[in-house]
Amino acid sequence: MLKKILGTILCAALAITALTGCAGSGKKKVGISMPTKDLQRWNQDGDYMKQKFEAAGYEVDLQYAGNKADQQLSQLENMINSGCKVLVIAAVEASSLGNALDKAAAKKIPVIAYDRLIMDNANVSYYATFDNYKVGQIQGNFVKEKLDLDNAAGPFNIEFTAGDPGDNNATFFFNGAFDVLKPYIESKKLNVLSGQTDFASVATVKWASDTAQSRAENIIGSYYGEKNIDAWLCSNDSTAQGVVTALDARYNSEGRSGQWPIITGQDCDIVSVKNMIAGKQTMSVFKDTRTLAERTVTMVNDLLNGKTPETNNTYNNNKLDVPSYLCDPVFADISNYEDILIKSGYYTADQLK
Ligand code: BGC
Repeated sequence: MLKKILGTILCAALAITALTGCAGSGKKKVGISMPTKDLQRWNQDGDYMKQKFEAAGYEVDLQYAGNKADQQLSQLENMINSGCKVLVIAAVEASSLGNALDKAAAKKIPVIAYDRLIMDNANVSYYATFDNYKVGQIQGNFVKEKLDLDNAAGPFNIEFTAGDPGDNNATFFFNGAFDVLKPYIESKKLNVLSGQTDFASVATVKWASDTAQSRAENIIGSYYGEKNIDAWLCSNDSTAQGVVTALDARYNSEGRSGQWPIITGQDCDIVSVKNMIAGKQTMSVFKDTRTLAERTVTMVNDLLNGKTPETNNTYNNNKLDVPSYLCDPVFADISNYEDILIKSGYYTADQLK
């Protein structure tokens, strides 16, 4: 009997929660699902959004999915059942969230794809991101200019390390960079001694640093011997960090520190900025997570208040053209990191020591 009464009370509470968005507070609840706590950026993205949504009067349910698609799926289902009025999702895997998204659609809960496009489902209302192809172009152009590919005699050696095949962004980054460098590979001014130039061969599952490191070690051991590596195009900072560790063994312990290759990245992670300062990573791409978080809060606010959110692009996710807002990525290296990272208040000088 007691069980029945408690059950009835629980059901009533859940029903009220679903109706009001958040029991008791009257605030609407936003579900934010980030892929992993392992990478600095997602912690920052999550924290900024939580702060900004709360400041705008929302309740926030912020969850991290441990880089596991099934964990993300069940976290999203909980968010849907506990009355979230909107979901903001940076997907672990672009195409694995169908069940949760269908449930959200049945309850008319809009979904914002955050940073990574969610593929193969029609319930993706908006997409807030950076221009991911441009991130790759910035990296590719940097290598092109640094090696002076249009004028120098060469030939030069380059290797590629890309991102997670399940992350829709990863091909955009890779293609953006590869499209710039491809003509020089074709003309043999750039050689890829491993022969690995297609996305599938150079991808890094879950963007893991240790996976990038062991692949780099294999490549160095199998193809380079006494030969020099002039550039290593890495799609982001976590993969660049793995490649740097692999190169450290070869270049520093073997006394070749003068021939350190050009290494690209993106995110301006603290570890990578320190590596830039130490001369071990040559550049990164700064994607100000504060800008993306603010853009997302504005999008959600508009959406829940009957206004059409501002967009500046569309991306097709195999089901629909998702109205999208692309923020601008910014080139970063040793010459400008103080301005864009410290003066802008993104990091303190102490964090980079
Ligand atoms: C993000 C990058 C990040 C990578 C690994 C991508 O989807 O756009 O900023 O480095 O995931 O987490």
